[in-house]
Amino acid sequence: MKNLRNITPDIVYIGADDRRLALFEGVYSIPKGVSYNSYVILDEKNALIDTVDKAVARPFMENLEGALDGKNLDYIVLHHIEPDHSALLFDIIEKYPDAVIVTSAQGEKLIKQFFNIEHKYIIVGDGDTLSLGEHELVFKTAPMVHWPEVIVSLDTKDKVLFSADAFGTFGALGGALFADEVDFEREYMSEARRYYTNIVGKYGPQVQSLLKKAGALDFNYICPLHGPVWRKDFSNIISKYALWSSYTPEKAGVMIAYASIYTNTEKAVTYLARALFERGIRCQVFDVSVVPESELISAAFEYSNIVLASVTYNMQVFPTMESFIRELVCHNIQNRTLSFIENGSWAPVSAKLMKELFAPCKNMTYLDTTVTVKSALNDDSRLALDTMCDEIVKSIME
Ligand code: FEO
Repeated sequence: MKNLRNITPDIVYIGADDRRLALFEGVYSIPKGVSYNSYVILDEKNALIDTVDKAVARPFMENLEGALDGKNLDYIVLHHIEPDHSALLFDIIEKYPDAVIVTSAQGEKLIKQFFNIEHKYIIVGDGDTLSLGEHELVFKTAPMVHWPEVIVSLDTKDKVLFSADAFGTFGALGGALFADEVDFEREYMSEARRYYTNIVGKYGPQVQSLLKKAGALDFNYICPLHGPVWRKDFSNIISKYALWSSYTPEKAGVMIAYASIYTNTEKAVTYLARALFERGIRCQVFDVSVVPESELISAAFEYSNIVLASVTYNMQVFPTMESFIRELVCHNIQNRTLSFIENGSWAPVSAKLMKELFAPCKNMTYLDTTVTVKSALNDDSRLALDTMCDEIVKSIME
């Protein structure tokens, strides 16, 4: 049974939701599901815009057939070869053997590596065009948003920007299609942040290049490969991309992440958070042993200040904290103000080691006070937390 929605009279959404996948890319929990978006442009020549993950093969193939309604498929435009968007390529070619694959030069290489498909290709690069009749696609390269082969395209007739992974989000669509049909800020923005920061967070400069290219294009719709289609209020998402890709904090406030074994480190963090709230500073506290790493990464991109509190464990940083910091560094986090709290009953060293892990990061500010807790809070460590609180407040208010 087909399940279609029109974006414009000639452009049809044929994607599908997956709400059963536990881990996207085998690592990111997606409790709200995910949509795999795909589109068909109907014209003298008919074009499929990207395919979907194999998990939604059946509804997708039904939708494709329904959208074409007996017409031929002339082109398969692949903007991004990651298998969540290309997995159905073989099935489509089998069903529509005359359809020509349109992709970048590196896209062709990746298709052959992944699927060993010899087929007819049209290779496109920056500024190349593909005429479908009344519709024409103009291609722009967008390397490393999220893979090196990525291209985006603009349908110049209906002014539709097919943006690949850019401007996408986790979260199933559930029958909605446009961002303005839902309360995007409440229902999707935190998932959009988590998607961006974890999937393409490392590639800020490349995202900035795409924003520059997109800024020169005249579009009325943004069609990403995941999540709702944008047809108004573009600044809601583009302004976030401008912040995230430049590693600029969205909020003046504090992310406090802790690793605690017997709750004493947690108590230190709670003491600090209470003191900060009393001074009017917004904080969010995370137990790194419980909260999924993707949520921690997302929060680190959101706040101006980060406080990390870890027990010393085998003379190292606690494993879950170390893993989080390594991921954060890997995602190129920059421009943050950091403070450290360590706990250790006989040889506390985790603060020094945590700071060392951030060595590759640019433009980090380290506040003066490091708090050392020896087993449990006492008057000295409480006093040090008060000083840390003063420093954080000053850093935010300045
Ligand atoms: Fe949704 Fe980079 O693939």
